Amino acid sequence: MNSSVAHRRILITGADGFVGSWILHTLEARPTPDLKIIAGGRTGKSSSLPVQTVRFDITDPARVDAAIARARPSTVIHLAAVSHVSEAREDPHWAWEVNLRGTMNLAESVMKHSPQSRFVFVSSSEVYGGADKVLGRLLDETALLDPRNPYAAAKAAADLMIGQMAGNGLNAIRVRPFNHTGPGQTERFVIPAFAAQVARIEAGIQEPVIRVGNLEARRDFLDVRDVANAYISLALSSFSFEPGLVLNLASGTGRRIGEIVDELVSLATVEIRVETDPSRLRVNETPFANADAGRIRKLLGWQPRIPWSKTLADVLEFWRARVKSMRPVAG
Ligand code: GDD
Repeated sequence: MNSSVAHRRILITGADGFVGSWILHTLEARPTPDLKIIAGGRTGKSSSLPVQTVRFDITDPARVDAAIARARPSTVIHLAAVSHVSEAREDPHWAWEVNLRGTMNLAESVMKHSPQSRFVFVSSSEVYGGADKVLGRLLDETALLDPRNPYAAAKAAADLMIGQMAGNGLNAIRVRPFNHTGPGQTERFVIPAFAAQVARIEAGIQEPVIRVGNLEARRDFLDVRDVANAYISLALSSFSFEPGLVLNLASGTGRRIGEIVDELVSLATVEIRVETDPSRLRVNETPFANADAGRIRKLLGWQPRIPWSKTLADVLEFWRARVKSMRPVAG
Protein backbone atom coordinates (compact mmCIF):
# COMPACT_ATOMS: atom_id res chain seq x y z
CA MET A 1 0.00 0.00 0.00
CA ASN A 2 1.20 3.47 -0.85
CA SER A 3 0.50 6.24 1.59
CA SER A 4 -0.09 9.71 0.23
CA VAL A 5 2.20 12.64 0.89
CA ALA A 6 1.14 16.29 1.01
CA HIS A 7 0.52 17.30 -2.61
CA ARG A 8 1.38 20.90 -3.24
CA ARG A 9 2.17 21.26 -6.94
CA ILE A 10 -0.63 20.06 -9.15
CA LEU A 11 -0.15 19.75 -12.91
CA ILE A 12 -3.28 19.45 -15.05
CA THR A 13 -2.71 18.41 -18.65
CA GLY A 14 -5.42 19.41 -21.10
CA ALA A 15 -6.17 22.30 -18.72
CA ASP A 16 -7.50 24.36 -21.64
CA GLY A 17 -10.11 21.73 -22.52
CA PHE A 18 -13.67 21.21 -21.27
CA VAL A 19 -12.96 19.20 -18.12
CA GLY A 20 -9.65 20.97 -17.45
CA SER A 21 -11.40 24.34 -17.41
CA TRP A 22 -13.93 23.05 -14.88
CA ILE A 23 -11.11 21.75 -12.68
CA LEU A 24 -9.54 25.22 -12.72
CA HIS A 25 -12.93 26.84 -11.91
CA THR A 26 -13.44 24.41 -9.04
CA LEU A 27 -10.00 25.06 -7.61
CA GLU A 28 -10.67 28.78 -7.88
CA ALA A 29 -13.91 28.43 -5.94
CA ARG A 30 -12.16 26.79 -3.00
CA PRO A 31 -8.65 28.21 -2.79
CA THR A 32 -6.17 25.91 -1.10
CA PRO A 33 -3.27 27.70 0.57
CA ASP A 34 0.16 26.65 -0.66
CA LEU A 35 -1.23 24.78 -3.66
CA LYS A 36 0.57 25.73 -6.84
CA ILE A 37 -1.46 25.07 -9.96
CA ILE A 38 0.31 24.32 -13.20
CA ALA A 39 -2.00 24.36 -16.21
CA GLY A 40 -0.56 22.39 -19.13
CA GLY A 41 -2.09 22.79 -22.54
CA ARG A 42 -1.47 23.19 -26.24
CA THR A 43 -2.83 26.71 -26.43
CA GLY A 44 -1.15 28.08 -23.32
CA LYS A 45 -4.50 29.79 -22.66
CA SER A 46 -4.88 30.54 -18.96
CA SER A 47 -7.81 31.10 -16.63
CA SER A 48 -8.33 34.00 -14.27
CA LEU A 49 -6.61 31.92 -11.60
CA PRO A 50 -3.08 32.72 -10.55
CA VAL A 51 -1.88 29.61 -12.32
CA GLN A 52 1.41 28.91 -13.95
CA THR A 53 0.74 28.04 -17.57
CA VAL A 54 2.93 25.51 -19.31
CA ARG A 55 2.54 25.27 -23.05
CA PHE A 56 3.43 21.83 -24.28
CA ASP A 57 2.43 19.36 -26.91
CA ILE A 58 2.01 15.97 -25.27
CA THR A 59 3.26 14.22 -28.44
CA ASP A 60 6.64 15.96 -28.25
CA PRO A 61 8.70 13.95 -25.73
CA ALA A 62 11.50 16.52 -25.44
CA ARG A 63 9.11 19.38 -24.63
CA VAL A 64 7.13 17.25 -22.21
CA ASP A 65 10.34 16.19 -20.48
CA ALA A 66 11.60 19.75 -20.19
CA ALA A 67 8.22 20.92 -18.83
CA ILE A 68 8.10 18.18 -16.19
CA ALA A 69 11.74 18.77 -15.20
CA ARG A 70 10.84 22.43 -14.57
CA ALA A 71 7.41 21.91 -13.01
CA ARG A 72 8.29 18.93 -10.78
CA PRO A 73 4.65 18.33 -9.88
CA SER A 74 3.72 16.40 -6.76
CA THR A 75 0.46 15.34 -8.39
CA VAL A 76 -0.73 15.15 -11.99
CA ILE A 77 -4.21 14.95 -13.49
CA HIS A 78 -3.64 13.72 -17.03
CA LEU A 79 -6.59 14.78 -19.17
CA ALA A 80 -4.95 15.74 -22.47
CA ALA A 81 -6.40 13.45 -25.13
CA VAL A 82 -8.25 13.12 -28.38
CA SER A 83 -11.56 12.79 -26.57
CA HIS A 84 -14.17 12.40 -29.28
CA VAL A 85 -14.97 8.95 -30.62
CA SER A 86 -15.73 10.16 -34.17
CA GLU A 87 -12.67 12.41 -34.29
CA ALA A 88 -10.51 9.40 -33.40
CA ARG A 89 -12.17 7.35 -36.15
CA GLU A 90 -11.38 10.12 -38.64
CA ASP A 91 -7.67 10.04 -37.69
CA PRO A 92 -6.78 6.89 -35.75
CA HIS A 93 -3.01 7.51 -36.06
CA TRP A 94 -3.40 10.81 -34.27
CA ALA A 95 -5.64 9.27 -31.59
CA TRP A 96 -2.98 6.62 -30.84
CA GLU A 97 -0.22 9.21 -30.95
CA VAL A 98 -1.91 11.47 -28.42
CA ASN A 99 -3.76 8.98 -26.23
CA LEU A 100 -1.08 6.30 -25.98
CA ARG A 101 2.30 7.81 -26.86
CA GLY A 102 1.45 11.17 -25.31
CA THR A 103 0.53 9.40 -22.08
CA MET A 104 3.76 7.42 -22.25
CA ASN A 105 5.82 10.59 -22.78
CA LEU A 106 4.24 12.19 -19.76
CA ALA A 107 4.36 9.16 -17.45
CA GLU A 108 8.02 8.46 -18.27
CA SER A 109 9.01 12.06 -17.56
CA VAL A 110 7.08 12.05 -14.30
CA MET A 111 8.87 8.87 -13.21
CA LYS A 112 12.19 10.44 -14.15
CA HIS A 113 11.81 13.88 -12.56
CA SER A 114 9.07 13.51 -9.93
CA PRO A 115 9.02 9.83 -9.02
CA GLN A 116 6.91 10.38 -5.87
CA SER A 117 4.23 12.21 -7.85
CA ARG A 118 0.69 10.86 -7.75
CA PHE A 119 -0.41 10.29 -11.35
CA VAL A 120 -4.15 10.37 -11.98
CA PHE A 121 -4.67 8.95 -15.46
CA VAL A 122 -8.03 9.74 -17.00
CA SER A 123 -8.94 6.61 -18.93
CA SER A 124 -12.49 6.04 -20.20
CA SER A 125 -15.54 3.83 -19.82
CA GLU A 126 -15.17 3.25 -23.57
CA VAL A 127 -12.49 0.66 -22.73
CA TYR A 128 -15.36 -1.67 -21.72
CA GLY A 129 -16.89 -1.26 -25.19
CA GLY A 130 -18.64 -4.56 -25.74
CA ALA A 131 -20.60 -4.11 -22.57
CA ASP A 132 -23.68 -5.61 -24.17
CA LYS A 133 -22.16 -9.01 -23.37
CA VAL A 134 -22.81 -8.32 -19.70
CA LEU A 135 -26.15 -6.57 -20.13
CA GLY A 136 -28.21 -6.99 -17.04
CA ARG A 137 -25.53 -6.08 -14.57
CA LEU A 138 -23.70 -2.86 -13.90
CA LEU A 139 -20.12 -2.69 -15.13
CA ASP A 140 -17.61 -2.77 -12.32
CA GLU A 141 -13.84 -2.48 -12.60
CA THR A 142 -13.43 -6.24 -13.13
CA ALA A 143 -15.29 -6.14 -16.47
CA LEU A 144 -13.22 -7.15 -19.48
CA LEU A 145 -11.66 -4.55 -21.73
CA ASP A 146 -13.36 -4.87 -25.11
CA PRO A 147 -12.80 -1.60 -27.01
CA ARG A 148 -14.80 -1.08 -30.21
CA ASN A 149 -13.27 1.95 -31.86
CA PRO A 150 -9.84 3.60 -32.19
CA TYR A 151 -10.51 6.03 -29.35
CA ALA A 152 -11.46 3.21 -27.01
CA ALA A 153 -8.58 0.97 -28.12
CA ALA A 154 -5.99 3.71 -27.63
CA LYS A 155 -7.41 4.53 -24.20
CA ALA A 156 -7.44 0.83 -23.26
CA ALA A 157 -3.81 0.48 -24.37
CA ALA A 158 -2.81 3.52 -22.31
CA ASP A 159 -4.79 2.17 -19.35
CA LEU A 160 -2.87 -1.14 -19.56
CA MET A 161 0.43 0.68 -20.00
CA ILE A 162 -0.16 2.81 -16.91
CA GLY A 163 -1.09 -0.35 -14.98
CA GLN A 164 2.20 -1.92 -16.06
CA MET A 165 4.18 1.25 -15.18
CA ALA A 166 2.52 1.26 -11.76
CA GLY A 167 4.15 -2.15 -11.22
CA ASN A 168 7.47 -0.44 -11.93
CA GLY A 169 6.93 2.39 -9.47
CA LEU A 170 4.55 4.92 -11.08
CA ASN A 171 2.24 6.06 -8.30
CA ALA A 172 -0.78 5.85 -10.57
CA ILE A 173 -4.54 5.80 -10.26
CA ARG A 174 -6.53 4.88 -13.36
CA VAL A 175 -9.95 6.49 -13.37
CA ARG A 176 -12.52 5.36 -15.94
CA PRO A 177 -15.13 8.10 -16.26
CA PHE A 178 -18.45 7.38 -17.91
CA ASN A 179 -20.06 10.12 -20.02
CA HIS A 180 -20.15 13.61 -18.64
CA THR A 181 -21.49 16.90 -19.84
CA GLY A 182 -22.11 20.46 -18.74
CA PRO A 183 -21.86 24.06 -19.83
CA GLY A 184 -18.94 24.64 -22.19
CA GLN A 185 -18.81 21.21 -23.84
CA THR A 186 -18.58 21.35 -27.62
CA GLU A 187 -21.32 20.31 -30.02
CA ARG A 188 -19.38 17.22 -31.05
CA PHE A 189 -20.82 15.50 -27.94
CA VAL A 190 -24.38 14.36 -27.79
CA ILE A 191 -26.05 16.61 -25.21
CA PRO A 192 -24.63 19.91 -26.50
CA ALA A 193 -25.30 18.62 -30.03
CA PHE A 194 -29.00 18.49 -29.18
CA ALA A 195 -29.13 21.53 -26.85
CA ALA A 196 -27.43 23.79 -29.39
CA GLN A 197 -30.04 22.82 -31.99
CA VAL A 198 -32.88 23.57 -29.56
CA ALA A 199 -31.33 26.99 -28.88
CA ARG A 200 -30.96 27.75 -32.61
CA ILE A 201 -34.54 26.64 -33.29
CA GLU A 202 -35.85 28.84 -30.47
CA ALA A 203 -33.86 31.75 -31.90
CA GLY A 204 -35.44 31.15 -35.32
CA ILE A 205 -32.18 30.39 -37.09
CA GLN A 206 -32.79 26.67 -37.62
CA GLU A 207 -35.92 25.02 -38.97
CA PRO A 208 -37.85 23.28 -36.14
CA VAL A 209 -36.17 19.89 -36.59
CA ILE A 210 -33.49 18.36 -34.34
CA ARG A 211 -31.16 16.07 -36.28
CA VAL A 212 -29.98 13.08 -34.27
CA GLY A 213 -27.93 9.90 -34.52
CA ASN A 214 -28.50 6.63 -32.68
CA LEU A 215 -31.23 7.07 -30.07
CA GLU A 216 -31.14 3.45 -28.87
CA ALA A 217 -27.67 3.63 -27.24
CA ARG A 218 -27.65 3.95 -23.47
CA ARG A 219 -25.17 6.01 -21.51
CA ASP A 220 -24.44 6.77 -17.86
CA PHE A 221 -24.07 10.56 -17.53
CA LEU A 222 -22.46 12.70 -14.87
CA ASP A 223 -22.27 16.46 -14.54
CA VAL A 224 -18.78 17.69 -15.37
CA ARG A 225 -18.70 19.60 -12.06
CA ASP A 226 -19.07 16.32 -10.13
CA VAL A 227 -16.34 14.84 -12.31
CA ALA A 228 -14.00 17.77 -11.63
CA ASN A 229 -14.55 17.35 -7.90
CA ALA A 230 -13.74 13.66 -8.10
CA TYR A 231 -10.49 14.28 -10.01
CA ILE A 232 -9.41 16.96 -7.54
CA SER A 233 -10.08 14.64 -4.60
CA LEU A 234 -8.19 11.83 -6.30
CA ALA A 235 -5.26 14.16 -6.85
CA LEU A 236 -5.17 15.93 -3.50
CA SER A 237 -6.85 13.87 -0.78
CA SER A 238 -4.94 11.68 1.62
CA PHE A 239 -5.77 8.01 1.24
CA SER A 240 -3.90 4.77 0.78
CA PHE A 241 -4.02 2.93 -2.50
CA GLU A 242 -2.26 0.24 -4.44
CA PRO A 243 -0.49 1.86 -7.43
CA GLY A 244 -2.41 1.05 -10.61
CA LEU A 245 -5.76 1.20 -8.79
CA VAL A 246 -8.73 1.30 -11.22
CA LEU A 247 -11.82 3.36 -10.36
CA ASN A 248 -15.03 3.78 -12.30
CA LEU A 249 -16.61 7.22 -12.14
CA ALA A 250 -20.32 7.12 -12.89
CA SER A 251 -23.83 7.88 -11.69
CA GLY A 252 -25.13 4.32 -11.87
CA THR A 253 -28.12 5.48 -13.94
CA GLY A 254 -28.29 4.39 -17.58
CA ARG A 255 -30.24 6.69 -19.91
CA ARG A 256 -31.45 5.99 -23.42
CA ILE A 257 -30.24 8.76 -25.74
CA GLY A 258 -33.82 8.94 -27.12
CA GLU A 259 -35.13 9.85 -23.63
CA ILE A 260 -32.65 12.71 -23.46
CA VAL A 261 -33.86 14.17 -26.76
CA ASP A 262 -37.43 14.01 -25.44
CA GLU A 263 -36.43 15.80 -22.23
CA LEU A 264 -34.67 18.58 -24.16
CA VAL A 265 -37.60 18.95 -26.56
CA SER A 266 -39.92 19.27 -23.55
CA LEU A 267 -37.76 22.13 -22.21
CA ALA A 268 -37.98 24.00 -25.50
CA THR A 269 -40.24 27.03 -25.85
CA VAL A 270 -41.33 26.00 -29.38
CA GLU A 271 -42.59 22.84 -31.13
CA ILE A 272 -39.75 20.65 -32.41
CA ARG A 273 -39.62 17.49 -34.55
CA VAL A 274 -36.88 14.87 -34.29
CA GLU A 275 -35.28 13.37 -37.41
CA THR A 276 -32.47 10.86 -37.89
CA ASP A 277 -29.45 12.17 -39.73
CA PRO A 278 -27.61 9.15 -41.17
CA SER A 279 -24.28 11.01 -41.00
CA ARG A 280 -24.61 11.00 -37.20
CA LEU A 281 -24.93 7.20 -36.97
CA ARG A 282 -21.80 5.22 -36.00
CA VAL A 283 -20.42 1.91 -37.18
CA ASN A 284 -19.97 -0.66 -34.42
CA GLU A 285 -21.47 1.58 -31.76
CA THR A 286 -20.86 0.99 -28.06
CA PRO A 287 -24.44 0.05 -27.19
CA PHE A 288 -24.59 0.36 -23.46
CA ALA A 289 -22.62 1.90 -20.63
CA ASN A 290 -23.91 1.82 -17.10
CA ALA A 291 -21.57 1.48 -14.18
CA ASP A 292 -21.07 0.41 -10.66
CA ALA A 293 -19.03 3.20 -9.04
CA GLY A 294 -19.08 1.65 -5.56
CA ARG A 295 -15.30 1.53 -5.33
CA ILE A 296 -14.74 5.29 -5.61
CA ARG A 297 -17.71 6.00 -3.33
CA LYS A 298 -16.13 3.81 -0.67
CA LEU A 299 -12.63 5.21 -1.16
CA LEU A 300 -13.46 8.93 -1.20
CA GLY A 301 -17.05 9.18 -0.04
CA TRP A 302 -17.56 10.79 -3.47
CA GLN A 303 -21.00 10.85 -4.99
CA PRO A 304 -22.67 12.91 -7.68
CA ARG A 305 -24.33 16.01 -6.22
CA ILE A 306 -25.83 17.74 -9.24
CA PRO A 307 -29.26 16.47 -10.31
CA TRP A 308 -29.67 15.43 -13.92
CA SER A 309 -32.42 18.01 -14.49
CA LYS A 310 -30.02 20.82 -13.50
CA THR A 311 -27.29 19.51 -15.77
CA LEU A 312 -29.63 19.42 -18.74
CA ALA A 313 -31.12 22.85 -17.98
CA ASP A 314 -27.66 24.39 -17.52
CA VAL A 315 -26.42 23.01 -20.84
CA LEU A 316 -29.49 24.38 -22.59
CA GLU A 317 -29.08 27.80 -20.91
CA PHE A 318 -25.43 27.85 -21.93
CA TRP A 319 -26.42 27.30 -25.58
CA ARG A 320 -29.26 29.83 -25.43
CA ALA A 321 -26.76 32.47 -24.23
CA ARG A 322 -24.17 31.40 -26.80
CA VAL A 323 -26.64 31.56 -29.70
CA LYS A 324 -27.94 34.95 -28.51
CA SER A 325 -24.41 36.36 -28.28
CA MET A 326 -23.69 35.23 -31.84
CA ARG A 327 -26.84 36.73 -33.40
CA PRO A 328 -26.42 39.99 -35.21
CA VAL A 329 -28.20 42.77 -33.31
CA ALA A 330 -31.02 44.24 -35.44
CA GLY A 331 -31.07 47.95 -36.23
N1 GDD B 1 -22.10 13.20 -30.60
C1 GDD B 1 -23.34 12.78 -30.94
N2 GDD B 1 -24.14 13.56 -31.76
N3 GDD B 1 -23.78 11.59 -30.45
C2 GDD B 1 -25.03 11.20 -30.78
C3 GDD B 1 -25.89 11.96 -31.60
C4 GDD B 1 -25.41 13.20 -32.12
O1 GDD B 1 -26.10 13.93 -32.84
N4 GDD B 1 -27.07 11.28 -31.72
C5 GDD B 1 -26.95 10.17 -30.99
N5 GDD B 1 -25.73 10.09 -30.42
C6 GDD B 1 -25.22 9.00 -29.56
C7 GDD B 1 -23.87 8.42 -29.96
O2 GDD B 1 -24.02 7.52 -31.07
C8 GDD B 1 -23.49 7.73 -28.65
O3 GDD B 1 -24.16 6.51 -28.54
C9 GDD B 1 -24.05 8.66 -27.58
O4 GDD B 1 -25.00 9.51 -28.25
C10 GDD B 1 -23.00 9.51 -26.88
O5 GDD B 1 -22.17 10.10 -27.85
P1 GDD B 1 -21.03 11.15 -27.43
O6 GDD B 1 -21.61 12.26 -26.64
O7 GDD B 1 -20.30 11.52 -28.67
O8 GDD B 1 -20.11 10.35 -26.41
P2 GDD B 1 -19.45 8.87 -26.42
O9 GDD B 1 -20.29 8.00 -25.54
O10 GDD B 1 -19.17 8.42 -27.79
O11 GDD B 1 -18.04 9.16 -25.71
C11 GDD B 1 -17.95 10.06 -24.62
O12 GDD B 1 -17.97 9.39 -23.39
C12 GDD B 1 -16.83 8.61 -23.10
C13 GDD B 1 -17.04 8.01 -21.73
O13 GDD B 1 -17.01 9.00 -20.77
C14 GDD B 1 -16.71 10.92 -24.75
O14 GDD B 1 -16.82 11.97 -23.82
C15 GDD B 1 -15.46 10.15 -24.47
O15 GDD B 1 -14.33 11.04 -24.42
C16 GDD B 1 -15.59 9.48 -23.12
O16 GDD B 1 -14.44 8.69 -22.85
